[in-house]
Amino acid sequence: MLSVAIDGPAGVGKSTVSKLLAKKLNWNCLDTGALYRAIAVACKNNNVDITEINQVKDLLNKIKIDVKFIDGVQHTYINNKDVSNELRTEEIDMMSSISSAYPEVRQSILHLQRDLANQQNLVVEGRDITSNVLKESKNKFYLDASPEERAKRRYNERNSKGEIANYNEIYQDLLKRDKNDMTRKIAPLVCTKDSIKIDTTFLSIDEVVEKIYKNIKLS
Ligand code: DC
Repeated sequence: MLSVAIDGPAGVGKSTVSKLLAKKLNWNCLDTGALYRAIAVACKNNNVDITEINQVKDLLNKIKIDVKFIDGVQHTYINNKDVSNELRTEEIDMMSSISSAYPEVRQSILHLQRDLANQQNLVVEGRDITSNVLKESKNKFYLDASPEERAKRRYNERNSKGEIANYNEIYQDLLKRDKNDMTRKIAPLVCTKDSIKIDTTFLSIDEVVEKIYKNIKLS
């Protein structure tokens, strides 16, 4: 099976770019952040203190995470309940950033990610796909953009959805998440030597998709 592995920091546009790329290739796209977010949702719904690793570990023994692609759209399940609509809140942004630093959390979804990539051609996006989950992929990309630009994109995205957004809060949250994601001991976000790095600060979404597409090896 073929894969395209895409890593990069929060707010860089990985999800949008990866989904468009998958469409162009007629493949499915796995958003691995959704799996970490689903675990955070399970913690929230079960009153688990995300800063207490033992509580999180106990919960991991009680939950089963699953992914299905329905008409090209990823659905993420906890114990057979579709939680896809609960994943994208500011609270879950921060909770998933904390819990994804626990090795037990990362281990609990490693096989699921690899199994999905073994079953089909897949675009996979996250923080440790090029460095860990799909180390052997022939197509590795690292997307980057300045924190100011990423905060601006998040701010515009929230505004366009009619949400009340505060640029400064978004910017500070991004810096915090960057720090969590890049300095954790297990599988920190890095640009691997064999990844093609794309600075997207001054590129449109379509330009980024095109750049990746042109560099993909399909054999
Ligand atoms: O991409 P995202 O914002 O949906 O990811 C949510 C959190 O999950 C993020 O703070 C980092 C973590 N994550 C990770 O550690 N490894 C991945 N492969 C994907 C996400």
